Amino acid sequence: MELGTARTLASPEGRAMLAALPPYSPETAEHMNARLRAHGMEPDLAAAALTQLALRHEAASKLGEVAQILLLTRTGLEQATRTVVTAHHAARFRAAGSTLVADLGCGLGLDSLAVAGLGMGVVAVERDPITAAFATANLEMFDEARVLQRDALGVDLAELGADALWADPARRDVGGRRLSDPNAWSPSLSALLERARSVPAAGIKVAPGIASEHIPDDAHVQWVSVDREVVEAGMWFGDAAPEGPGRSALVVVGDRAHRLAPDGGGPVPPSAPHEDAPVAGLGAYLHEPDGAVIRAGLVAELGRRIGAGIVSDRIAYLTSDAPAHSPFARSFRVLERVGAGRKALARAVAEREIGELTIKQRGSGVNVDEIRRGLRLRGPNRATIVLTRVAGDHTALFVEPVADAP
Ligand SMILES: C[S@@+](CC[C@H](N)C(=O)[O-])C[C@H]1O[C@@H](n2cnc3c(N)ncnc32)[C@H](O)[C@@H]1O
Repeated sequence: MELGTARTLASPEGRAMLAALPPYSPETAEHMNARLRAHGMEPDLAAAALTQLALRHEAASKLGEVAQILLLTRTGLEQATRTVVTAHHAARFRAAGSTLVADLGCGLGLDSLAVAGLGMGVVAVERDPITAAFATANLEMFDEARVLQRDALGVDLAELGADALWADPARRDVGGRRLSDPNAWSPSLSALLERARSVPAAGIKVAPGIASEHIPDDAHVQWVSVDREVVEAGMWFGDAAPEGPGRSALVVVGDRAHRLAPDGGGPVPPSAPHEDAPVAGLGAYLHEPDGAVIRAGLVAELGRRIGAGIVSDRIAYLTSDAPAHSPFARSFRVLERVGAGRKALARAVAEREIGELTIKQRGSGVNVDEIRRGLRLRGPNRATIVLTRVAGDHTALFVEPVADAP
């Protein structure tokens, strides 16, 4: 899209035109394009308008209803923070008493929207001209929010009067590949850390798989999952981290959020090695900790809370004789233990006439796709099998999911 077309779409007339269009449907898109052109709309603008409708349609599950009034780009939507998570970011700034948050690399402005929505001022900085034009339109409903189109590292936080910093750096290269080195992110983690320590409250969104050597000991790092998918880790500093340096997990299921942090025993630096959970004999239930709990190194903590131990050294499956009834784990009733060799598995699946099989594995060292290819899945039955180690031995367990805790 040309910058001129983006500016036209972002103008009050452009947004009124978009608002007047019927909702997106792939079947009628071509017809609508023809209609817009017949009414004298430039081909570029007609195509861009239809793209907006399609992106809004796609964005609904990630961004909720607000998507229908936002201006979006494909990259901006991919990078945008989910609305349920932006609300948690913004709540930290409000609790910190922040009055003006600088959002360094604001993208389409989803995090800024949540901050402004809680009544704080926002200066959102974005260097890409089209993204900045759309962020300006997206934030226009808030008097206390403004967008600066420039390099975020060139802004002087003190001059802006910002008392808080938020940054969600771009973590992919131009070809769309993930950059594992935080200093290759844009802005780089080191530049953001330096600025984070210059304000009373700060947060930086980082990749959930960030290596511990990149985690500073003055951060509180919170891994976040939404409906069982780990979506980010947030590094929080100063007044935005009232819990102090350490690690926690925030597990969002539906519209409820649950926080898990180490209980007592004093603060643990976020880069400290994860605590080993004790191994327990296989019980009647297997518990799969949420990915955010695993990333945060809190499997042992969860085990203590639900009275369970791990099935084998360094394997993040917990086991006990009762369901976990916890938002931090999914429990499975252990139905049967069968041989873990390929032939034994094939026989077990055939004997039980299993036509649909969910295979889970942890610590078994096998390739699930290869295992699946070696099985003849025929028959009316469905099953779930877990390939793992129990007290060091390769094991296959038929299990049945227990309904999630309400
Ligand atoms: C991951 S996105 C932010 C998404 C945003 N948090 C949201 O939820 O909508 C990162 C953005 O930072 C911008 N960016 C990267 N480096 C920048 C820099 N040095 N100055 C300003 N913006 C930058 C990119 O263009 C991109 O739009």
